[in-house]
Amino acid sequence: MKDKKIKKIVKERYSQIAKESSSCCPTCGPCSYDVTEQAKKIGYSKNELEKIPKEAVMGLGYGNPIALADLKEGETVLDLGAGAGIDVFLAANKVGPSGYVIGVDMTEEMVKKANKTAENYGYKNVEFRLGEIENLPVEDN
Ligand SMILES: C[S@@+](CC[C@H](N)C(=O)[O-])C[C@H]1O[C@@H](n2cnc3c(N)ncnc32)[C@H](O)[C@@H]1O
Repeated sequence: MKDKKIKKIVKERYSQIAKESSSCCPTCGPCSYDVTEQAKKIGYSKNELEKIPKEAVMGLGYGNPIALADLKEGETVLDLGAGAGIDVFLAANKVGPSGYVIGVDMTEEMVKKANKTAENYGYKNVEFRLGEIENLPVEDN
């Protein structure tokens, strides 16, 4: 399959997930998927999850990169494939108001959803940008 076609399929699926605010399989019958429990299983703590918007936790990740990143106050963080923003909001809490976190995602609906969450919860040190990892909408440094 060509790269362009793969990306189109990936975008369509994440777009649907963002619009429905659900990562349940659409053809698998009733869904009892608990996103918070899934997040805990892959390394996010209850304490961390309680301090970020619930809308950012969608059960899409594979691990907790923030737990390994050793972030410091005032740092600037770039999250590639940010989705609804779980790691962006966790990073924002760590770098604090003097730091900044940019989440990049190629799915427009995900970026819209994440920016809306940031606005609704009053995060001032967070921004989500539409773009591809292969051609980042971010300047050097
Ligand atoms: C598995 S989800 C993870 C989202 C988030 N990091 C989390 O843990 O919930 C992957 C996200 O990466 C985005 N993505 C996949 N390939 C990408 C690419 N080449 N450039 C930008 N975003 C991409 C998708 O749109 C999707 O929102």
